Amino acid sequence: MLSIVWRAAGLLDPGTRRGLVLGIPVALAVTLLELAGFLALAAVVQVLAAPQLLHEAGPDTLVGLARRVAHPHGLTDFVATVGGVAVTLLVSRGIAACALAWWQAGLLARAEATLSARLFRTFMGTSYEFHLQRHSADLMRTVIMSVRYLTSRVLLPGTTIIIDASLILGLAMALLVMEPVTALVSIGALGGAMGTYLFLVRRWARRMGVDDERLMSRDQRIIQEGLRAVKVLTTLGRRGAVVRRFETARSEHTYALRGLFFISNLSRYYLESVVLLVMAAAAGTAILGDADVLASVGVILAGSMRLLPSVQRVLAMANLVRVGVGSLEQVEKDLAAAGNDIKRSAEHDDPQPVTFERCIEFRDLTYRYPAAPTPALDSINLTVGIGESVGIVGPSGSGKTTLVDVLLGLLQPTCGGIYIDGVRITPELVHGWRARIGYVPQDTVIIDDTVRRNVALGLDDDEIDDVAVERAIAQAQLLDTVLAMPDGFDSMLGEHGVRLSGGQRQRIGIARALYLHPDVLVLDEATAALDTETEKQIVETIEKLYGKITVLVIAHRLSTVQRCDTRVVLDRGHVTNRRGPDAQPVGQPAR
Ligand SMILES: Nc1ncnc2c1ncn2[C@@H]1O[C@H](COP(=O)(O)OP(=O)(O)OP(=O)(O)O)[C@@H](O)[C@H]1O
Ligand SMILES: [Mg+2]
Repeated sequence: MLSIVWRAAGLLDPGTRRGLVLGIPVALAVTLLELAGFLALAAVVQVLAAPQLLHEAGPDTLVGLARRVAHPHGLTDFVATVGGVAVTLLVSRGIAACALAWWQAGLLARAEATLSARLFRTFMGTSYEFHLQRHSADLMRTVIMSVRYLTSRVLLPGTTIIIDASLILGLAMALLVMEPVTALVSIGALGGAMGTYLFLVRRWARRMGVDDERLMSRDQRIIQEGLRAVKVLTTLGRRGAVVRRFETARSEHTYALRGLFFISNLSRYYLESVVLLVMAAAAGTAILGDADVLASVGVILAGSMRLLPSVQRVLAMANLVRVGVGSLEQVEKDLAAAGNDIKRSAEHDDPQPVTFERCIEFRDLTYRYPAAPTPALDSINLTVGIGESVGIVGPSGSGKTTLVDVLLGLLQPTCGGIYIDGVRITPELVHGWRARIGYVPQDTVIIDDTVRRNVALGLDDDEIDDVAVERAIAQAQLLDTVLAMPDGFDSMLGEHGVRLSGGQRQRIGIARALYLHPDVLVLDEATAALDTETEKQIVETIEKLYGKITVLVIAHRLSTVQRCDTRVVLDRGHVTNRRGPDAQPVGQPAR
């Protein structure tokens, strides 16, 4: 079980791990304080139970030892002095334990925050293909909930177990020295009972943790998808159906949760019964032997009173660690998968510059989505000269968005590649290449923030160039709309941009792409959602860029790409027609 805690600690940053390890000797010192306090108390209990021990006890016994230290003038003096020492030690222990717990809580909070951030950083560092295969609700669950459970079910109980187990060991040893036979029977019986209990519930506890992780992710998916689809569900009149699905999911989750809530109490009920038996056995052994019965039983009783809460905590915490294995495995699995993806895609964060002075070439480019039966793009050969404007049209599902995604380096070609001025875009160059591209996706993502921060997405406030934001907004034909908003460029757009029309959202996307003066502008049906008049205005804006920068326009309507230098028709992953500026068909004729 400690190996589980160790595995979890292995995921933490070295500083936090060192702090947690350092806590162990400090905890042991606190335990020693408590042991000393307990021994002093035990001496008082023994003397009170059998006053003659004050004079008769041998020098090697506990009472003898206390007598030598305290030099008492009689029974009352002994009780007052040794009792005072006991109280002082135990109160100091209480204060020290409290300080230690506060310090450890800080470490655990830091552990959770840094591990969560590490996971998010790793997920954000993965390729776009990784995200195509993973549900965002699952990744969110791992970053937030699995890490929370890893801390609260594995690391926190782990530290408590180490403290309590050392106390149990210390007390057991002290009892063994004081009352060997009686203590041996009690400790043997209690140890056996603890071992049996842990053995019996370990599998059950682990399964509940694994189930909890799996079901939590399913619950979250239903909520996320239900809330995202609230508009269409309302029109379909099916909000109730989603709620029912959630209710069913939650009720299936009840079994795992019930076990989780129950298991922490189970150890208490179990121990209470076992302890009664152990006590009886201890008293029996003491009576059968010729020990000073009352004193022996008194010490064992005092020891048990202190021991029991610790034993119960160890049992409960050990269960919790088992429950936490599910979260630990989830975090390890996702970190490994994301880490492998990052290694495989080998993208470098520090962009290496890419020179673009002549042309972009798609050479024998084939792309097949993972697990797709046929390629979405099949041996595409296409050259786009610098400053050229290219319109790409084709029926739905013909591979237009896929072509753009490969050009952006979001998808790695299955065969062939993208060449800029004859240099192949490898993962090392992809960041440098992307830095030159302004991209307007088919469905623009709007964050619940201001117009300004949406246009300069991802930049810190002090990095945002307000003049460039205004220019980009004006180019996207949105200046009047923004100026009419109550807070102008500081107006909040709402979740998914709910305070904007579909076309306005799309124009924010266009402004975002134009903000950085790109060398290449890629528009994936960027104007499809607009009315003809607005589309005409934006197309005119974009047309003004023709000749100045390279533009790739994907559109359904031929009218959108009419004034492009070149028009390309895609069909089922093939270029079926390419018309140059002279309107001469190139390649196969269009059907
Ligand atoms: N993540 C994916 N996994 C598997 N297949 C996919 C994936 N994304 C797209 N496809 C498939 O690849 C093909 C090309 O899709 P793509 O999105 O490039 O089409 P498109 O030309 O942009 O269509 P539209 O005009 O409707 O946007 C389609 O047959 C689609 O089903
Ligand atoms: Mg598309």
